[in-house]
Amino acid sequence: MAASRKGFFNAFNDVWMLDGARTPMVDYCGALGHISPTDLGIKAAREVLKRAGVPADHIGSVIAGNMAPGDFDQFFLPRHIGLYAGVPVDVPAQMAQRICGTGFELFRQAGEQIQGGQCEAALVVGTESMTRNPIAAFDHRTGFKLGAPVGFKDYMWEALSDPAAGINMIQTAENLAKKYSITREQVDEFASDSFAKAVAAQQAGFHAGEIVPVISEKFELAGYATRGIKLQGKLTEVAQDTHARLSPVEVLAKLRSVYPGGVQTGGNSSALVDAAAAAVVASGAYGRAEGKKPLARVVAAAVVGVPPEIMGIGPAPAIRLLLERAGLKLDDIGRFEINEAQGAQTLAVGRELGLDLAKLNVNGGAIALGHPLAATGVRLTITLARELKRAGLRYGVSSACIGGGQGIALLLENPDAA
Ligand SMILES: CC(C)(COP(=O)(O)OP(=O)(O)OC[C@H]1O[C@@H](n2cnc3c(N)ncnc32)[C@H](O)[C@@H]1OP(=O)(O)O)[C@@H](O)C(=O)NCCC(=O)NCCS
Repeated sequence: MAASRKGFFNAFNDVWMLDGARTPMVDYCGALGHISPTDLGIKAAREVLKRAGVPADHIGSVIAGNMAPGDFDQFFLPRHIGLYAGVPVDVPAQMAQRICGTGFELFRQAGEQIQGGQCEAALVVGTESMTRNPIAAFDHRTGFKLGAPVGFKDYMWEALSDPAAGINMIQTAENLAKKYSITREQVDEFASDSFAKAVAAQQAGFHAGEIVPVISEKFELAGYATRGIKLQGKLTEVAQDTHARLSPVEVLAKLRSVYPGGVQTGGNSSALVDAAAAAVVASGAYGRAEGKKPLARVVAAAVVGVPPEIMGIGPAPAIRLLLERAGLKLDDIGRFEINEAQGAQTLAVGRELGLDLAKLNVNGGAIALGHPLAATGVRLTITLARELKRAGLRYGVSSACIGGGQGIALLLENPDAA
């Protein structure tokens, strides 16, 4: 049989997101920069269990995501997040990785595990310290030879390049700008809107509804080492996202493009931030038995591959596959949360799909709020679920492009509007 269409599609019959919570997203090298992604993850995980009213011993699976190793104990990150969140010692924990799609992948895998009867409730946590990206070398285990190159490099800068295509992520957006005839003015206008929407949502208190303030505190675990968070200096609390500020087009227009003649700048690309986001995903049977209401139903997921040199277009075919297989049309979707990895990239997705931009990232996107890689998909999906409730809309799609050339998308349903 000829396989004409590649990609994964999952339909989930009765899978709920019970609740979600996240830390603030703080510009890198800022107030969260010294905190390991494990501790940020524990913070978000403890909070979401509290908000969902789910005892930690009801969790049957821990799935965590983290891209950059932010400490020497990163191998243990999912396990330590689970244990220090209070999840019983006999519950397994795993790391999932789909680069910028990791956060969505966590929901996809949780859905598969729940639907497959592996567990009733899963704790999913995406966490990223962009600040603690190491300055790393892979060549020096056996020493340094006189005159030979020293291999230490900035992991973050290097990891934003795809050696297969020989280009970095900003250049993939430049390729899309050329392909879809997107101008610098259009990208700056899109970015300026993202900042304005984020600031408005912040002022209206929308983002605060999903944020747990980070404070200095200990994470105790009987019989094991105590760990925790210690804020620096006189800070007692970090409660707000820090990157969003009103950014008029005229200001953005003055910024130097990353590449000469290109459309992407530091002002219209996703901001580098530190953050963690967590959600509890459970079967409807569990939710009903416990007398819970879902924040959203997780209806379906789709993931596809695209050419690495235009990786940013990934959400377009992922959303097409998602909707086609779910039997829905673009017009049925009330809200889209598509990660703004780069402005030209998101505009290209919009053009490819013929998207109504008035439905897109209505509370601001990653250009204004930031893109903490593995946390992003969880953050966007929580924001989408809350926005569907706020607006009284039924269906929403959260999605992201993925370096290396993939796209992933989730379909949520607001139970109040079903
Ligand atoms: C685009 C990128 C390379 C810019 O990095 P950078 O040069 O360190 O960016 P900065 O934050 O320093 O911004 C550059 C300048 O623009 C200014 N700027 C940024 N946003 C601004 C805004 N909203 N308003 C006014 N000025 C702004 C900065 O103040 C800075 O000015 P300076 O040079 O005078 O200090 C980096 O942000 C990036 O790679 N982002 C995308 C990440 C990514 O691709 N993720 C994965 C997706 S697949």
